[in-house]
Amino acid sequence: MKHSHGSIEIITGSMFSGKTEELIRRLRRARIARQSIQVFKPVIDNRYASEKVKSHAGTEFEATPVARAAEVLPLVRPDTTVVALDEAQFFEPEIAEVCRALAARGVRVIVAGLDQDFRGEPFGSMPQLVSLAEHVDKLHAICAVCGNEASRTQRLINGEPAQYDDPVVVVGASELYEARCREHHLVPRRPTPSTSQPPALQPAQPGQPEMLAGVLISEAQLQARIRELGDAISRDYAGRSVLLLCILRGGVLFLTDLMRQLSVLHTLDFMAISSYDPGVRRSSGQVRIALDVSQNIEGQHVLVIEDIVDTGHTIAAVLDLLATRRPASLKICTLLDKAERREVQVPIDYVGFTIPNHFVVGYGLDVDEYYRNLPYIGVVKEGFVFHP
Ligand code: PRP
Repeated sequence: MKHSHGSIEIITGSMFSGKTEELIRRLRRARIARQSIQVFKPVIDNRYASEKVKSHAGTEFEATPVARAAEVLPLVRPDTTVVALDEAQFFEPEIAEVCRALAARGVRVIVAGLDQDFRGEPFGSMPQLVSLAEHVDKLHAICAVCGNEASRTQRLINGEPAQYDDPVVVVGASELYEARCREHHLVPRRPTPSTSQPPALQPAQPGQPEMLAGVLISEAQLQARIRELGDAISRDYAGRSVLLLCILRGGVLFLTDLMRQLSVLHTLDFMAISSYDPGVRRSSGQVRIALDVSQNIEGQHVLVIEDIVDTGHTIAAVLDLLATRRPASLKICTLLDKAERREVQVPIDYVGFTIPNHFVVGYGLDVDEYYRNLPYIGVVKEGFVFHP
């Protein structure tokens, strides 16, 4: 029996949401109705027996592995009324045209695939397929952390959340995946949409302090970028309250402007940590906690606010300490990132500007404790000696 109308139906969701099980359930029903079925899957998916699609629960259905999307159409027999594709996120973009052509021929096309990769980004051709389909079912798993509905796939490398830019294969690492809800899906080093390219140095203007070689980031550039960061943070923490933990003293101006751009509920606290020996303009690597956070952060969403991450020693020490206190989440937002100077790798979640290795001052940053009030980020003249 042939369907009078072709159609595309999508079964999507995170790993462990039961997509393949649902696909197999539909195929069994079609088989009971004696419909003629063909199943294809990309050869990349060789987790289980290669001539079958198999669910995590153990149900299976025979399938033809294909190396390329273009191989599917020539393999579909004239009397086939149901074509199923599993792990469709791994097919090339041509798979959308293949599905469209089959549906135009009157075939019922059932597609199962992950809608997001481990970073939470749209996966392969799934967004196109979803938009072409008559029916879309998004299935959910259970969050491995809190037991709520899970829509995302958490990748763990050696037990730690994989970073946004981690390679697909990490040699020698033990890797595993689990289902997570939005709140517990962690992707360190996710880039923010940014204008964070190193700005060009503008010559100092008359009336600006004599010690300035120039202005690196103007007041307008700072405020525009802080608005963007505020939007990104508000989006990411929507529906939750966040504790903004400002690192004194440099982070204060950034904190007060940033919080005015936030639409999420937030509270404030402070820490003072010194990574520089007095009079030395170079990180000593020795981190001293001068003032600890005033409250119990267990179960709170903590966002650390810094003016600058340079060698990374300070923020690494802060993270190490805070992580032992079991916050619900722990992220970093820094206005400036001197990435080229890094000695300790730290996952930074929000970056205002990535800057070259200048001695910068203003907007919270000091020269021997002065000039923190400048509303822009300036560069101090080479060899400048301060005499207040
Ligand atoms: C600055 C800055 C960071 C740290 C970054 O603090 O505020 O906390 O240095 O350097 P790192 O990445 O090399 O560790 P500073 O000790 O100058 O104190 P301040 O904020 O009071 O000026």
